Amino acid sequence: MVWRLTRIVACCLSLFAVWFFFSEESPYAKYRVQGQTGQLVGDGVFKALAKDNFSWESISPTEELIWTDCYSDNQCARLKVPLDYANPDGTSAAIAMVRIHSGVPHDSASYRGPILINPGGPGGSGVDFVARRGVSLSTIVGPEFDIVGFDPRGIGRSTPKVSFFANRAEREIWSGADANGLSMNASVDALSRAWARGIVDGQLAGERDDGSLRFMNTDQTARDMLRIVQGHGHEKIQYWGFSYGSILGASFASMFPEHVGRLVIDGVADSENYFASEWSNNLIDADKVWMSFVDGCVTAGPDGCAFFAPTATELLSNVEKIYASLRARPIPIRTNTSFGIADYSMLRRAIFASLYSPYAQFPKLAHALSDLSKGNGTALFKMSETPAFECGCDPSQYRFESVREAGSAVLCNDGKRISPEYEGVVAHYENLSKNSSWADVWEPIRMTCLAWPDFPKNHFQGPFIANTSFPVLLIGNTADPVTPLWAAQKMSNGFAGSVVLTQDSPGHCSLAAVSLCTHKHIRQYFSNGTLPGPGTVCTVDDPLFPTSDLDVDANEKAQVALTLSQADRALLEAVRELAKTFDVRFPTAI
Ligand SMILES: *[C@@H]1O[C@H](CO)[C@@H](O)[C@H](O)[C@H]1NC(C)=O
Ligand SMILES: *[C@@H]1O[C@H](CO)[C@@H](O)[C@H](O)[C@H]1NC(C)=O
Ligand SMILES: *[C@@H]1O[C@H](CO)[C@@H](O)[C@H](O)[C@H]1NC(C)=O
Ligand SMILES: *[C@@H]1O[C@H](CO)[C@@H](O)[C@H](O)[C@H]1NC(C)=O
Ligand SMILES: *[C@@H]1O[C@H](CO)[C@@H](O)[C@H](O)[C@H]1NC(C)=O
Ligand SMILES: *[C@@H]1O[C@H](CO)[C@@H](O)[C@H](O)[C@H]1NC(C)=O
Ligand SMILES: *[C@@H]1O[C@H](CO)[C@@H](O)[C@H](O)[C@H]1NC(C)=O
Ligand SMILES: *[C@@H]1O[C@H](CO)[C@@H](O)[C@H](O)[C@H]1NC(C)=O
Repeated sequence: MVWRLTRIVACCLSLFAVWFFFSEESPYAKYRVQGQTGQLVGDGVFKALAKDNFSWESISPTEELIWTDCYSDNQCARLKVPLDYANPDGTSAAIAMVRIHSGVPHDSASYRGPILINPGGPGGSGVDFVARRGVSLSTIVGPEFDIVGFDPRGIGRSTPKVSFFANRAEREIWSGADANGLSMNASVDALSRAWARGIVDGQLAGERDDGSLRFMNTDQTARDMLRIVQGHGHEKIQYWGFSYGSILGASFASMFPEHVGRLVIDGVADSENYFASEWSNNLIDADKVWMSFVDGCVTAGPDGCAFFAPTATELLSNVEKIYASLRARPIPIRTNTSFGIADYSMLRRAIFASLYSPYAQFPKLAHALSDLSKGNGTALFKMSETPAFECGCDPSQYRFESVREAGSAVLCNDGKRISPEYEGVVAHYENLSKNSSWADVWEPIRMTCLAWPDFPKNHFQGPFIANTSFPVLLIGNTADPVTPLWAAQKMSNGFAGSVVLTQDSPGHCSLAAVSLCTHKHIRQYFSNGTLPGPGTVCTVDDPLFPTSDLDVDANEKAQVALTLSQADRALLEAVRELAKTFDVRFPTAI
């Protein structure tokens, strides 16, 4: 997701999720769209949004769903829900939603109701994702469904909203030059500084809480989803959740098994490990993805991969040389729009970030590494560029801006309390370092939770077991950097009749790659409830390092396309469009 990378608070803990905002000139800046990569800037869908003259403030939250036209052809609504479902007559909250209307009238016999989308996080905005990408999602699942994106409570345009800071400038100053986050291996005090910052974050969270913070969790959000479904006049959910959306989906299925109509969880995390605040088994396959870069580059040859070396060993040793060189001499960077330093942390983060979307990012990474080996850090810097902070004079302009700490709030509220002692952090880091080479970018995730306010932990935290009213479909990639296939298999054990569909690709979630096979299975599951056979493995249709011979490539694609039905061609194009920009981070808060 894109634009101007905000610096976040929890910079230390925001190692790889970079939040960008659309440029200031956009009238849409009023409720700025946030996201995690710069690729969508100026993209067609967003430009359409930018022309929009719609204000969320003009909608009053209501208990029934009332849709107002927004974002060109779409509709928006704010659903009034209890802030605390244990006290339904108390204070209320408002959930912001956007809908891509089905291609068939709602009174038609073929209309199949809404599919709710969660784009991951915690902290990701479903409104942004669906407003920008909903049309492609609709092409995948078919025209019989509405596509509904919502900002989970506390996030983006949903109110009350999580914020630990008095204003945007305060947030920006706190994040400072570390805005992009540090590798815990960048210096001797990187870990201890991250710990100290985390303590401050937790204290601010407590001090600036207006009383609503404790209700920003997955349990209450699952209840909101049921309200959204019921607001549509349905009793059973249809849902496609990515990444953190798998934790939300698994929670929903366990809490409301009789309300499952269709439920796809894609990029599946081990929910037990998440609720235990362990964050210890996410990276099992991260090195497999990294090695797919290394081996893919060697195989692609000098024309296919800019960072080519004849063997994996040589390539890895070239990367080590760059690490050492950046440690010894960070590269000062001045571009025509910004300035900064290309350093060790930036490279670690850029590599780790590219593991989420290898098809979109590996060629860029190869180019950046190749330039770095010649002492040029500009391409690396551009991969992670943070445009200058512009302080809005009118705070109301930023009322609906997504802020990074919202995601931290959800994961700290959800997770088991962790000890604020530095020794505990060191022990956790040592454990993680023993079994993953990416511990340095992963460790900061829990830091905001160290001094988290002592809220009661009486929300749903498992067990993740259920006989659901319709079997759950889980999707896992053979090499997902943060939600390993193993976790999909583990979670599937709890859900009677569920099936794991395996996509044989690197990257985070199915949409990181282009696979007609995967997405036809998803379509069939939604449209007529057909589950893939147990053990189904889908291959992908596009290469990791596109051949330099574009004519051959285009020719092959044309050949394949000829054999496809019109519906399959449309589906393939929709997936290609999504794969180019799909960049769901888990968690968004890092
Ligand atoms: C946008 O809406 C505001 C008030 O809501 C109105 O004053 C303005 O003229 C509108 N602009 C366009 C381009 O429609
Ligand atoms: C830290 O960096 C050093 C030198 O680059 C490297 O040898 C070591 O493996 C790294 N440790 C971790 C935990 O990343
Ligand atoms: C790391 O340790 C955790 C907890 O002991 C374990 O579940 C996980 O599988 C390990 N990861 C790797 C990559 O070995
Ligand atoms: C910066 O340079 C790039 C190409 O080098 C160019 O496309 C872009 O328009 C320039 N931006 C500004 C603000 O000058
Ligand atoms: C560094 O690489 C950029 C392209 O990313 C290029 O525009 C620039 O001229 C290079 N700088 C030097 C000093 O070669
Ligand atoms: C580190 O690993 C050991 C052995 O698996 C375990 O007992 C301990 O609880 C772990 N510590 C942390 C902080 O995760
Ligand atoms: C699911 O149904 C089976 C068979 O009726 C039963 O034994 C099991 O306890 C049920 N599981 C749950 C979680 O309700
Ligand atoms: C389900 O739909 C797919 C096409 O979407 C079709 O190939 C399949 O045969 C259908 N299955 C059933 C049981 O109707």
